[in-house]
Amino acid sequence: MHDTPLAVVTGSGRGIGQAIAERLADDGMRLIIADIDDDTARQTAERMTASGRTAHGIGLDVASPESVARAVAETTDRFGPIRVLVNNAGIVSNTPWEDTGLDEWNTVLAINLTGTMLMTHAVLPVMRDAGCGRVINIVSLAGRNGGVSVGPAYAASKAGVIGLTRHYAGKVARDGITVNAVAPGTTATAMASRFTPEQMAAINDSIPVGRLGRVDEIAAAVSYFAGPHAGFTTGAVLDVNGGMHFA
Ligand SMILES: NC(=O)c1ccc[n+]([C@@H]2O[C@H](COP(=O)([O-])OP(=O)(O)OC[C@H]3O[C@@H](n4cnc5c(N)ncnc54)[C@H](O)[C@@H]3O)[C@@H](O)[C@H]2O)c1
Repeated sequence: MHDTPLAVVTGSGRGIGQAIAERLADDGMRLIIADIDDDTARQTAERMTASGRTAHGIGLDVASPESVARAVAETTDRFGPIRVLVNNAGIVSNTPWEDTGLDEWNTVLAINLTGTMLMTHAVLPVMRDAGCGRVINIVSLAGRNGGVSVGPAYAASKAGVIGLTRHYAGKVARDGITVNAVAPGTTATAMASRFTPEQMAAINDSIPVGRLGRVDEIAAAVSYFAGPHAGFTTGAVLDVNGGMHFA
């Protein structure tokens, strides 16, 4: 048995997820780097290991029930119970509502919303058996304000995850499990770089602090929810958005 908590971060091969994984490793956890791009997951885990952290990379498609079941079973068999789950994997869709077709809608919902549900349903029983656990969902400002530069599928998927966060928080509180969400504003990653220059200029103009968020600032919020002082905080959504609440 391990005394060092085990954390799984989905979509952590790069971007915000990678920063979260590094931060939780620096907080003293063993990390599972889980990403649909399994090469990136392994490379990120190798880099973390080389820098003295404890990390293992696996391939995972959060939208596939089979992939989720296999990843959670293999992880718990090999490394023990999962103490912290960060549902970070996601894709953005900037398509305006007039042009959003059902295929795009279904793809975004499958990864961002259904993927969060599938991972949570797979991991909660493990946490319940252990009598403790922390689930942290990475949502978005768009799930709070309806979205400005993103399409309706993305905004709805993230609003849906806020609903899931509050639902699970109420259901598993007596099992020693907290469920919270972090809602980033626009953060400097590959996902943000997909905005057009015009969209980017509009976003910068609308951020009260005058800049994009940094991945370490999102990771610090996750660290709080995953850490020892957050046991009385559940069902919360922490906005990390430079003050851009309703822009
Ligand atoms: N970057 C932003 O401005 C911003 C703002 C608000 C919220 N977010 C949210 O933060 C999270 C991370 O965003 P990011 O900017 O780091 O994005 P990113 O595109 O840089 O990274 C996303 C990661 O998720 C992985 N992924 C995609 N589909 C997957 C799947 N089906 N299964 C497993 N992994 C999958 C990708 O391979 C990638 O490594 C997302 O949930 C996103 O919606 C980002």
